[in-house]
Amino acid sequence: MYKILITGGAGFIGSHTCLVLLEAGHSLVVLDNYANSSPEALRRVMQLAGPGAEGRLQVIEGDIRRSADLERAFAAGASTGAGLDAVIHFAGLKAVGESVAEPLRYWDVNVSGSQHLLAAMAAHGCRTLVFSSSATLYGYPETVPIPESAPIQPINPYGYTKAAVEQMLRDVAASEPGWRIASLRYFNPVGAHPSGRIGEDPNGIPNNLFPFISQVAVGRREQVQVFGGDWPTTDGSGVRDYIHVMDLAEGHLAALKALLSGGDQLLQLNLGSGQGHSVLEVIEAFARACGHAIPYVITQRRSGDAAITVADPTEAKQQLGWQTRRNLDDMCKDGWHWQHANPNGYTSVRTSY
Ligand code: NAD
Ligand code: UD1
Repeated sequence: MYKILITGGAGFIGSHTCLVLLEAGHSLVVLDNYANSSPEALRRVMQLAGPGAEGRLQVIEGDIRRSADLERAFAAGASTGAGLDAVIHFAGLKAVGESVAEPLRYWDVNVSGSQHLLAAMAAHGCRTLVFSSSATLYGYPETVPIPESAPIQPINPYGYTKAAVEQMLRDVAASEPGWRIASLRYFNPVGAHPSGRIGEDPNGIPNNLFPFISQVAVGRREQVQVFGGDWPTTDGSGVRDYIHVMDLAEGHLAALKALLSGGDQLLQLNLGSGQGHSVLEVIEAFARACGHAIPYVITQRRSGDAAITVADPTEAKQQLGWQTRRNLDDMCKDGWHWQHANPNGYTSVRTSY
């Protein structure tokens, strides 16, 4: 059983991954400043993990850019004997539009934050890292499905920060033996834990399709705007590779196992299903899940969008023995369960961890 630091562990993907890791018997230290999350998520993770997980989750409120906060996290990892075995690094900012408006904040949190984290890892002799990268690296893809060998050509500041961290990780991996690093390039993570207790809780108006549809379904918003009906796809709406957040969480466990059981490694892997779905297909699937129609209107294309983005997931299957198991109906069923049970996300809950 391993001791793992999870930065950003209270967030959407982090909370689901914490649960999967606790269920697999690992001990966790979460470092999160709650910039985009609630302590309630971790409280629910502990409830779901059950009494067997008692004492295996320590939570540190702090910022990855602050050395003192990182020191507290590493000290917590060392408090019960040997130090941390690995880090999973989710903490970061992820809104494309915001990154265009506030690029320096994105470079600070995503790039400088990662640099501070790597320095602390090196100082503490912890050299195993799983990093949250993104398919956004591929920009407008030239080939679909997209292999990992496709050109890295981001088209917005958010994407540039992910590309910069991936480069930092390649440099670090090459600098001395012992580093074991996986950059996982997520496609479109959606859905929720099947219990409906944890899920995605975006601040303000959702930028992404799936949470927007969920909020229309639950009556928080009037209708979905479908960004473009004239894309070169079967029904004219954009096509993406949606991945159930529980499949993604399990992908992190598989990556950790691969890194911790092997030698020096640098993995750069797509995590997706390899299956594309159009916006209209997602709206239809969500309507089936919630039992009523989802109103929508077709509008202009959103600038910066590609027609089709779908992963080639072959490499992750080969390297990690991992592949997605849940389909679009599972994503919508579980996403609806969460949204219906928590129409305002975690916001109405006022407990601390
Ligand atoms: P999220 O916003 O729900 O989670 C990020 C977590 O990091 C939050 O809990 C937030 O409070 C925390 N955080 C932010 N800045 C921090 C700081 N300076 N110090 C400590 N904690 C900080 O986002 P998510 O969807 O769970 O994404 C996790 C990671 O995956 C991010 O790095 C994101 O860029 C990447 N990613 C997400 C998607 C997606 O669609 N959700 C796709 C590709 C990649
Ligand atoms: C977006 C980001 C990407 C980021 C990813 C995960 C952009 C251009 N890309 O990807 O960098 O890694 O989120 O956070 O912002 N759509 C609608 N109506 C909506 C919202 C979206 O029709 O209200 C369409 C989009 O045009 C797209 C699909 O739904 O075809 C998915 O959009 P979204 O959920 O925003 O994800 P991406 O654009 O793939």
